[in-house]
Amino acid sequence: MTDIDEMKARYLTQVDAAQDLDALEAVRVAALGKKGAISEQLKTLGKMSPEERQTQGPIIQGARGAVADAIQARKDALERAALDAQLAGERIDMSLPAPVAPAGSVHPVAQVMDELAEIFADLGFAVATGPEIETDWYNFTALNIPETHPARAEHDTFYTAENGPDGTPMVLRTHTSPVQIRTMTSQKPPIRIIAPGRTYRSDSDATHTPMFHQVEGLVIDRGIHMGHLKWTLETFVKAFFERDDIVLRLRPSYFPFTEPSAEVDVGFSVENGKRVIGGDPEGPNGGWLEILGSGMVHPKVTSACGLDPEEYQGFAFGCGIDRLAMLKYGMDDLRAFFDGDLRWLKHYGFSTLDIPTLSTGVGA
Ligand code: DAH
Repeated sequence: MTDIDEMKARYLTQVDAAQDLDALEAVRVAALGKKGAISEQLKTLGKMSPEERQTQGPIIQGARGAVADAIQARKDALERAALDAQLAGERIDMSLPAPVAPAGSVHPVAQVMDELAEIFADLGFAVATGPEIETDWYNFTALNIPETHPARAEHDTFYTAENGPDGTPMVLRTHTSPVQIRTMTSQKPPIRIIAPGRTYRSDSDATHTPMFHQVEGLVIDRGIHMGHLKWTLETFVKAFFERDDIVLRLRPSYFPFTEPSAEVDVGFSVENGKRVIGGDPEGPNGGWLEILGSGMVHPKVTSACGLDPEEYQGFAFGCGIDRLAMLKYGMDDLRAFFDGDLRWLKHYGFSTLDIPTLSTGVGA
């Protein structure tokens, strides 16, 4: 074996033995660095006779190449092993609770939406959604509000300059009721949904904002009657306000998409100088607050959705979410909901870890 072969074999052994990148780098410097042993050999080529260079050149270059390749291969292997070890060591269980409460808070509107989803999920309702930019047909016509209907004027509708895919004008939905239509035209009964979301009307004062939130409820099945509506609303309101002594009052009313229609009031009383939902509304300082509109789905609406009203009946309700939040959590100015004031959010917001569940109380 020549000196070069020996040198090559020695470095190859050292490369294999290198346990980490630092050790490997030390071998590289010793062999191939500026003053490395193989580099020194390469420098001797210049002083050789052409014949000698012809035989020694390939040997030295071969040794350099073999050691360089071995170093690269070893480096790749060490780096891969280091990455594997790091990945194994830094593995985190995403299902574990966060160790600290994150900054920020859940807006009362989002909180109430979560509470509603939880309460209605327990009653077998799914959450449905629809677009906030609706066509006139979904927002009005299919809900038995034809073009000439006076109810259109009451809705202070924001119109866009565009027509929708069905050829009717696009509007910002003025209520969540179009989700009833979207659900009935895309699902088969039995249907049990709530549809919380944003709604828009050109209206603004202490109790009205141009964007606000509603939740729609819809049940469609055979043999549904007003008793189902009343029980569902009572069960919902008791769970939401977390009291059993809550009374509802159904007042005959009118909505184009329900027949008969009822507006629903919830009884309040005064306890320790504070107005609370529940207690005796006929007692001193007690009374009624309107919280939602409801009724039996109008046969014209079921048939507009391609369902036979003789076979399928249902009830629907629509309720302002912002108002529910104000009643439950005691805010008095709706506009503050949308100001983005951090002090307000800190005061009225909810912990991100506080997920409403029926077992712990939905408003906990
Ligand atoms: N869409 C109505 C509104 O915004 C509320 C409403 C009333 C919804 C009665 C309903 C209902 O589903 O049955 O004023």
